[in-house]
Amino acid sequence: MPRHFLTASDITREEFHSLIDFAIAIKRNPLLAGSPLENRNIALIFEKPSTRTRVSFEVGVRQLGGNPLVLNGNELQLARGETPEDTAQVLSRYVDGIVIRTYSHENLKRLAAASLVPVINGLSDSYHPCQALADFVTIRENRKTFSGLKLVFMGDGSSNVCHSLLMAAVYTGAQVTVACPKEYMPSEEIFRFAQSQGARINIEHDVKRACAGADVLYTDVWVSMGQENIKEQKIAALKPYQLNEEAQSVARKDHLVMHCLPAHKGEEITEGTFDSMNSVIFDQAENRLHAQKALFHLLYR
Ligand code: CP
Repeated sequence: MPRHFLTASDITREEFHSLIDFAIAIKRNPLLAGSPLENRNIALIFEKPSTRTRVSFEVGVRQLGGNPLVLNGNELQLARGETPEDTAQVLSRYVDGIVIRTYSHENLKRLAAASLVPVINGLSDSYHPCQALADFVTIRENRKTFSGLKLVFMGDGSSNVCHSLLMAAVYTGAQVTVACPKEYMPSEEIFRFAQSQGARINIEHDVKRACAGADVLYTDVWVSMGQENIKEQKIAALKPYQLNEEAQSVARKDHLVMHCLPAHKGEEITEGTFDSMNSVIFDQAENRLHAQKALFHLLYR
């Protein structure tokens, strides 16, 4: 059976920490990465727009000696109703791995279950696990240990990015606080699962209380792809949860400001906070490349 990476729970705690360490090592010395994808073709399927995921995977596969095939989901028969199972069966006969950005996490699981080659989640409606890997690489670069660290995710607690931080929190010992309104809480199933696996996580509706003493303040765009119809109501509900100078003023002096991008400055984050000395946002984007190369090492070794 191939190894897939659909959520952080597809790897062990030890693998998670080795992956973070290896990503930092190959960032410093890219030669250490070698060519684990030599003579391998990797399909990169995008059913939604992407800048970071698409480019970092395409470049990363090439740097590891492989051949990336970027496929627009709209141009595949998947878009005309071919099943995830049949798509996986066929692609498994041509390529050595599938990275997919899609909508339904259930369909992603069906694709992976039928695939004979590793499947990597490049974002689904429920999770964005490659983003969480890069996030913890970025935190690790700036902090000696995750243990005792307080990370506050501000905004839409039901987002795939928040869910993936909760899942990754299982391995880190970090305290992850979700500062969100009652209308946008994390999925109860995911929250309870992460908690049952040992994640130190909680939900807080009072922003100041949430951000007090925080080591990391993290946010994501409020209106995701496909949510334009609820834009106004979502912005109104999330407005008190903006990552701004006020939130920064109660965090630790050396806190990190994080955002997975793309950003809508003036909505979920102020321009001043985005550009502040505490911001590691573009390191975070760069680390997508290193974290995903480390992930390929794990899946293809
Ligand atoms: N953070 C992220 O996934 O960016 P893209 O949507 O540009 O891939």
